Amino acid sequence: MPFYLTTPIYYVNGEPHLGHVYTTVAADVVARHMRQRGEDVFFLTGTDEHGEPVSLAAEREGIPPRELADRNAERFKQVAARINATNDFFIRTSDPEHAAVVSEVVTRLKDNGHVYEGTYEGWYCPRCADFKTDSELLDGDRCPIHLIELEREQEDNWFFRLSTFQEPLEQLYAENPEWVLPGSRYNEALSFIKGGLQDLSLSRARISWGVPVPWDPDQVIYVWIDALLNYYSALSYAREGEDLTEKFWPADVHLIAKDILKFHAVFWPALLMAADLPVPARLYVHGYLLMDDHKMSKSLGNVLDPFKVMDIYGTDALRYYLLREVSFGQDGSISPEGFESRYNTELANDYGNLASRTLAMIKRYRDGVVPESEPAAGLVDEFGDLTTTVCARLDRIEVSAALDEIWTRVRLLNRYVQDSEPWKLAKDPQSAGDLDVILYGLAEGLRVVSLLLLPYLPETADRLLAALGQEERSIEAARFAASRGGARIGDLGQLFPKIESPEATAA
Ligand code: MSP
Repeated sequence: MPFYLTTPIYYVNGEPHLGHVYTTVAADVVARHMRQRGEDVFFLTGTDEHGEPVSLAAEREGIPPRELADRNAERFKQVAARINATNDFFIRTSDPEHAAVVSEVVTRLKDNGHVYEGTYEGWYCPRCADFKTDSELLDGDRCPIHLIELEREQEDNWFFRLSTFQEPLEQLYAENPEWVLPGSRYNEALSFIKGGLQDLSLSRARISWGVPVPWDPDQVIYVWIDALLNYYSALSYAREGEDLTEKFWPADVHLIAKDILKFHAVFWPALLMAADLPVPARLYVHGYLLMDDHKMSKSLGNVLDPFKVMDIYGTDALRYYLLREVSFGQDGSISPEGFESRYNTELANDYGNLASRTLAMIKRYRDGVVPESEPAAGLVDEFGDLTTTVCARLDRIEVSAALDEIWTRVRLLNRYVQDSEPWKLAKDPQSAGDLDVILYGLAEGLRVVSLLLLPYLPETADRLLAALGQEERSIEAARFAASRGGARIGDLGQLFPKIESPEATAA
């Protein structure tokens, strides 16, 4: 089955920070998991390069917007590769192929009678590239996200008749109660719609860094409309000589954070309807990574450099931490101290030590071959239908809830080894059968959790599976007692070496 999943495309007005990495990692976990299930996955990420946030940043640096876009798009590409994201394409909205699709779709909106000329007046935030309503403002004139003072702006431009989509949108929501997940975001978007929709300006006259309006080239298409269309345009040129639109459109999931809910949950489906295109199957809206109680963001300056963190701790550790520390869907704080604590207690101890102890015992007591044995009934029960549960969670993009299910079993295996004390049984030849059961159970448990952890810890879980003598990586193999032992184990080395350096925590 085709499965199409996207991240937001990130603004190139600054360098990538952990907030951006967060969404990309979560999307990558889902993409990898779906591939393990045999789905035909297309995973898209990229950069949003036009519009005022980018042209203002370029102006501040005294360089042309394209130069800034080229430089930062490269950084976003690098960070995606460095975090081991398996995106199938990286779109840049400055790609000429994208611009051609934008022109084509907005022309269709106009031909369909959804576009007119008008004047807009309101509070405008250039960093958001968005107008704000009075009720959204802080202290009467400040942007609730960037905290900067806003000016009232007036502009003649082209408008999209968003207001006429109120009813079709309400119907979309009524017919698809899980169209936006989690439910709280569905309610938020729906109440925004029910509050009454105003038409949306579709172009900007003040800036030139964008896709020209096909019928009025003095104006450029509003950056948000340009940007949203990336999800659709990418499919038409991601593969040379092939159009993937038929196969993958509409998207199965757009993953976003709550800052851009309105654009995706309201404007986007309306635009698609107006262009006679099918709407995506689902949006998943996650919360914010906070540092010192504030949303991590370039403009607030409280960012952690993902490259530095990965240099010190490795890629898997960062992937794990982000999805483990913050319950996906909610806001949550991250910190160097929290990172170090999870790294040491969970990755190095719970998983890493369990793995090295288990392999060492199999080497020592059973000549490096996993015993062929019956599984302990207790473990069979505790593993239960773990894989089914993890799949169900990930179907709903509950990325940290799925990880929690898996980690409960990692902890269970730790308790099992402590309680069953195999090193004592090893001294007594009469207990050989019992020791077989325990060593087999540990190897089997590690095999199952590692298969399920592969999307989260692609390097380390793979290394552990290889050390367990396992070649199979599909989700079907992730059933406790599906493998009956007999595998020859190999060398593992340390999965997560302890890190003591004080500079490490200051990263
Ligand atoms: N360019 C628009 C999106 C267009 S999509 C058609 C944009 N870009 S952005 O660079 O500001 O990225 C916003 C997205 O980055 C958020 O929706 C989220 O996915 C991610 N995050 C940025 N900072 C974040 C946090 N501090 N916490 C969680 N996610 C964060 O908006």
